[in-house]
Amino acid sequence: MSQSLLLGSGWHPPLFRSEINALFGDLKILHPRIVLLDQSIDDIFLTRISRAALVDDLLHFGGYTHNSDFNLVVNEISNWCKEHLHPGSFAVRSKKLGSGVENISRRDLEKEVGAKLFSDRNPVNLHNPNYEIVIIVAGDVEGEVHRDSLFTEPCIVWGIRENNWSKTNYLGRQPMERPFFKPISLEPRLAKLLISLAHSKGNTPQNFIDPFCGTGGIAIEALLQGMNIFVSDLDPTMVYGVKKNLSWANDNHENIIEVEKCSVKDIADLWGSKENSIFVFDPPYGRNAWKSDDGLELFLSSLEQALKIDPNSVISTMLPAGSESLENNPDSDYIVMGRPWSEIQKEVNKRGWKVIVRSPVKVHKSLARMVVICHPLH
Ligand SMILES: C[S@@+](CC[C@H](N)C(=O)[O-])C[C@H]1O[C@@H](n2cnc3c(N)ncnc32)[C@H](O)[C@@H]1O
Repeated sequence: MSQSLLLGSGWHPPLFRSEINALFGDLKILHPRIVLLDQSIDDIFLTRISRAALVDDLLHFGGYTHNSDFNLVVNEISNWCKEHLHPGSFAVRSKKLGSGVENISRRDLEKEVGAKLFSDRNPVNLHNPNYEIVIIVAGDVEGEVHRDSLFTEPCIVWGIRENNWSKTNYLGRQPMERPFFKPISLEPRLAKLLISLAHSKGNTPQNFIDPFCGTGGIAIEALLQGMNIFVSDLDPTMVYGVKKNLSWANDNHENIIEVEKCSVKDIADLWGSKENSIFVFDPPYGRNAWKSDDGLELFLSSLEQALKIDPNSVISTMLPAGSESLENNPDSDYIVMGRPWSEIQKEVNKRGWKVIVRSPVKVHKSLARMVVICHPLH
């Protein structure tokens, strides 16, 4: 079993795929929420995948089919399992995505595959099995929360669940559970997503820089991943509060944690040169700030400063956008920070960056952000 299969969260399939691409490089898409990697699951893989925010399940890949003949599907899955299942108890679990596959009931698949595999060598244990065979019956998933322009044929995918991995549990680290809370605090899943999107294949960032750190919502997640933390904010109250939050979250005293009061315009002087850095932030978006040019100006100056600190870094951010960006084709020329996106993109290019990913994200009913990832132009 040398390939791994990842099931993405239904919340945002396009960003799930971008996240896996940032962390692992090339991937094969079987379905908008299912991707395949040519890598077996080992300790290095598990460390890397622990950085992902939008993965719902991790399997040792078995196979996939577009067949919808029930008996053929049962035979294909059970033949594969007979060959690959080690001695020990097992359970067959199934999931249906979207509309599923015509003529295929996932419950019947569970029963039939289980009946074919059951033996003295492999007894069934539904509560605490040694192995879980997972079958995903995947149909159209259009529009759960965010639009996805990718469509694939319905398919059935199977594999054996990796036991040494589980979804991140954010209990105890929600914004209101931290010692210093403000309504601007970013929730941990989005923070983790922005950090994973700032990765690039084969590289693990060493330094995390947030020039608009606020209460430290993103910095806390970077700290938990073992990065050195260099954060700043113009507001002294935030500087005081983020220090409290970071020392509360820090259980590894070897990390460098530096917090300063500083305008984004001066962070290159503040931090100097720092190789292997990522810049992850959400810039100010006060009701008035983002409609004026101020928010944009601050964002653009963060791009200039970042290149001075590390010419090979990555920028990962979320910019205020109109809610119409969630309703129509995500590739249209939306208003972002009060300007058409095409204008912003030109300004980004002028400052030496190219946009690798942009994708709207729903924050509230009528509030959207554009997730934007930039790499240096060179
Ligand atoms: C949207 S908040 C960031 C929230 C943060 N991610 C959190 O989880 O709490 C933007 C921050 O930018 C800061 N800010 C505004 N203007 C700034 C400037 N010119 N330079 C640096 N920080 C600035 C504000 O004080 C605010 O804390």
